[in-house]
Amino acid sequence: MAIDAPSRHQGYIDLHCHILPGIDDGAENLEMALEMAQMAVDHGTSAIMATPHIIPGVFNNTLSAIRKRAEAFRIELKKAQINLTIYSAAEIRLSPEVVTLARKGELPFFNQPDHPREDGKNFVLLELPHQSVPVGSDNLVSWLVSRDIVPIIAHPERNTAIQANQDLLRPFMKIGCLVNLTAGSFLGGFGPTAKKTASDLLQRGWGHILASDAHNLENRTPILDTAVDAVSHIVGPQQALSMVTTIPEFLI
Ligand SMILES: [Fe+2]
Repeated sequence: MAIDAPSRHQGYIDLHCHILPGIDDGAENLEMALEMAQMAVDHGTSAIMATPHIIPGVFNNTLSAIRKRAEAFRIELKKAQINLTIYSAAEIRLSPEVVTLARKGELPFFNQPDHPREDGKNFVLLELPHQSVPVGSDNLVSWLVSRDIVPIIAHPERNTAIQANQDLLRPFMKIGCLVNLTAGSFLGGFGPTAKKTASDLLQRGWGHILASDAHNLENRTPILDTAVDAVSHIVGPQQALSMVTTIPEFLI
């Protein structure tokens, strides 16, 4: 992929983070969200893609509501003098509703409205259920790709079916999906199996972005630097760094 565009960012770009307050199971309130923002900045992050859950019937967040919340949070960051860029998208559960949202033009994409892409592609963060890869998922993903909507599969290393059989991810890779691995997985935060699977997927070339998937200030933090170190030991510093800099930049 062409990732030689000039950088708009000075630090890491975290493309998966539940930092918007009170909108899902991430930051509980503004105070926590601001502390998460400061923590991210303290560890070298300069931009965060706020990706609240869209899970039909559980978190019914909409594109317009997410954008409004992101704008309100930008104002709060400015007031608090925290130098962090906030973009917004969502983490969408892979379900038939994805098709409905796509048809209505209401899928939140990584690329931002003020930065239209020349290649016409749209990138969307999709989450599989935790224990399975539902039958027909690859058809749904193909349907999206045929409409220039490229899914980024969130944390497959934490899916128990993929942990047992990594080849379940192959159809998604063949279609052209990208993969988001979680920073904490490389540090053992999701257990030894997720850690090993993350490393295996990365070495198969099935890991494109490294993101925090932060939810709080304790066990699911917005810290990337330690994971970049861990990933450097697996694929080298250049590739590790690209997963939090040039590749995310290309997707925004
Ligand atoms: Fe997430």
